[in-house]
Amino acid sequence: MTNQVKIFDTTLRDGEQALPASLSGKEKLRIALALERLGVDIIEAGFPVSSPGDFESVRSIAREVKNATVCGLARAVPADIEACAKALNVADHFRIHTFIATSEIHVGAKLRKSQDEVVDMAVAAVELARNATDDVEFSCEDAGRTHIDYLCRMVEAAIDAGASTVNIPDTVGYTTPTEFGGIISQLFNRVPNIDKAIISVHCHNDLGLAVANSLAAIEAGARQVECTVNGIGERAGNCSLEEIAMILKTRQDMLGLTTGIDTTEISRTSKLVSQLCNMPVQANKAIVGANAFSHSSGIHQDGVLKAQNTYEIMTPESVGINKNNLNLTSRSGRHVIKHRLSELGYKTSDYDLEAVYTAFLKLADAKGTVYDYDLEALLFFDQQKHEA
Ligand code: KIV
Ligand code: ZN
Repeated sequence: MTNQVKIFDTTLRDGEQALPASLSGKEKLRIALALERLGVDIIEAGFPVSSPGDFESVRSIAREVKNATVCGLARAVPADIEACAKALNVADHFRIHTFIATSEIHVGAKLRKSQDEVVDMAVAAVELARNATDDVEFSCEDAGRTHIDYLCRMVEAAIDAGASTVNIPDTVGYTTPTEFGGIISQLFNRVPNIDKAIISVHCHNDLGLAVANSLAAIEAGARQVECTVNGIGERAGNCSLEEIAMILKTRQDMLGLTTGIDTTEISRTSKLVSQLCNMPVQANKAIVGANAFSHSSGIHQDGVLKAQNTYEIMTPESVGINKNNLNLTSRSGRHVIKHRLSELGYKTSDYDLEAVYTAFLKLADAKGTVYDYDLEALLFFDQQKHEA
């Protein structure tokens, strides 16, 4: 089995469908080009049948993007698949992603069909999509709540019909990592033709487990992860691209897996998506939050000034951030004050560290964060005291 994990980005489809206001075609193209630069393998550009605007933006992305496979989503019905093929056929190579629900609750209450009818629809959809491209992905919607016997049957049928990727979504973010990894292991053990397709996973974050479930699936043999920048998506969102990419990079020692992601592009791609989607990123969000490379306690600040990896398991540069941030607060110690003053151009002979530190603590207790201009003002008063 390959050690390369494909990154399938669905920011422009699952991510975009959850935004209060849609992105314009121009904005979608900007994001697609940023994703191409980031090194994702597949860009799910939209759902062409859903609106003329989405059709056009999928088409323009398929025309412009050269270094990633552009993909469109289609329900398992001919009109969707035909619209997808029409939108994408300007690209040399493209993927059609067709899906149908497989869980008892979706098959019975939503589709109102028998399990046999749903298998027939899936097979017909994959076969129709194969007339347009040899790159067909099939998804078993709500696979996380699908009985394993039926899931195995569906995966086998989709591969026999010509799907080269079979996606196992945890559509409602219901499973736990051991459970979801177990589903993937069972597919590998029970589906006879499983090695003819790449097994993909698509996890939602309703219980905050999208990344953990995706990782468990990778450990069980999945080799494609569907994710979005900043984890945006339906309800609590999707597996976060930056988190899964940095897990695979940072823990390559343990996992032995790689991706094609240029991680130094992560920060600027995250900012672009946040800005265009009008979706702020929480400060303590892993990898891309404002505090992800900030240190506040004196013990931690002293540690990173002595050796960065005391409190940083990855460097800010590795995700495209210039440097870490040492917040000056009442938890800060003398070491970081001296360090910051030296960065600001002051020599130790320019000030009395003890006096400046005492004044700094007083200010920090009153104010919270002390900024560089506050520190320089303290220095100025200290110098005036000396001169008086
Ligand atoms: O969450 C889901 O099941 C989906 C499918 C269309 C892949 O988004
Ligand atoms: Zn989804």
